[in-house]
Amino acid sequence: MKIVEVAAGKPYPVYIGGGLNDRAGVLAALRYSPRKLALVMDRNVASLFGARAEASFSAAGFRVEKYVFEPGEDSKSFEELSRLLEFLAEREYGRNDLLAALGGGVTGDLTGFAASVYQRGCEYIQLPTTLLAAVDSSVGGKTAVNMRAGKNLAGAFWQPSLVICDCDAFATLPARELSCGAAECVKYSMIGNPALLGLLAGDAVPLRWEEIVERCVIQKAAVVALDERDTDARQILNFGHTIGHAIEHLSKFKVLHGEAVAMGMMVMTRAAEQMGFCAPGISSALAGALSAFDLPTDCPYPADALASHAFTDKKRRGDEITLILPRAVGECELYPATVNELREIIRMGLGE
Ligand code: GLY
Repeated sequence: MKIVEVAAGKPYPVYIGGGLNDRAGVLAALRYSPRKLALVMDRNVASLFGARAEASFSAAGFRVEKYVFEPGEDSKSFEELSRLLEFLAEREYGRNDLLAALGGGVTGDLTGFAASVYQRGCEYIQLPTTLLAAVDSSVGGKTAVNMRAGKNLAGAFWQPSLVICDCDAFATLPARELSCGAAECVKYSMIGNPALLGLLAGDAVPLRWEEIVERCVIQKAAVVALDERDTDARQILNFGHTIGHAIEHLSKFKVLHGEAVAMGMMVMTRAAEQMGFCAPGISSALAGALSAFDLPTDCPYPADALASHAFTDKKRRGDEITLILPRAVGECELYPATVNELREIIRMGLGE
C-alpha cells in the first residue's frame, strides 16, 4: 500500500493499493472513533462493492447506513443533493458523524458538496472506484453539482479527511472508462513527470496501477498544497481541459471527458510546437502514450467553434483565459490568452 499526504489547510492521507475496500474500516478507525457513517454510492457500485465496504466499516465499529442513488451524471443535481441532506437529517446525523463516497466522480462530488453544507460542514471520506476519480476528483476538495446553465456551477472547496483508493476496483471498469482515467494520468506526466509517460506507453501498465496512481496523486497533492482554491498554480491541472470541455459540449457529451482532454492536450501541444514554445516531437511522444490507451489524438471540430465555446468557460477572467502550454514533456506553463489569440492558437493546433 502507498500513502500520500495532502498538505491542504486540512491535511489528510491518501491510501492507495489493492484490496483496500476490505480494509476501509480499519483505515478509517485510525482517524475516527466509531460513529454513524452514511455510505453514499450509486446502484451499480452498491451491487459491486457496497456489501464489502459496509462489512468493513461495520467490523471496525462504524454504524453504517447506505444511501443509494441512480447512476449517471443526472444525479449530480440539486434534487439528489437535497434527498441526501434530508436522509442525513431524518436519521439525525450530527456534525461529528461521517459521510463516505464510494464510487466515481459523480458520487464524490455529490457527497463532498453535501458534507460541505450539512450542519455547516462535516467530514467525509473518498473511496474512489474509477481511475479518473482516483487520480483527479477524489483528491483536492472540489465538490459540486450541475446546473441547467452548465456543469459544476454550484459547489464548494471542501477537502475530504481521508481518501482510500482500492485499485482492484479498476478491473471492473469498461475499457473506454479506464482509458478516460488514463488520459488524466498522461496529463500528469505532461505537466510534471516525464518518466510517467514512458510507464504509461509501456506494456506493464495493467500490473502497475498502484504506482501510477501514487505518482499522479503526489503531483496533484503538491499543486493543491500550493493553491487549494484554484487561483494560480492549480490551473496547471487544466492542461487540455479548456479545449476538452468545448469538445465535450460540441459532441453533446458523446465524446467522454478523458477522450476530449486527450484531444485538447494534442491541440495545445501541436500549437506550442508551431509557436516555438516547445521543441518539435513533443506531440509525437504525447500521441504515443494516448494511443496506447486507444485515446483519440485528432480533434474533429473547427477552431471557431472551439474558441467560441472555450470563451464561455467558467475559468475565463474578463477578456482573458489561461491556457496551459507544454515547454517539454513534464513541463507546462500557464499562458493567458485573449479571445483572438485563443482562436489563433487553436488554429495552429489544428493545422488550419
Ligand atoms: N480537476 C482539477 C482540479 O482538481 O483542480
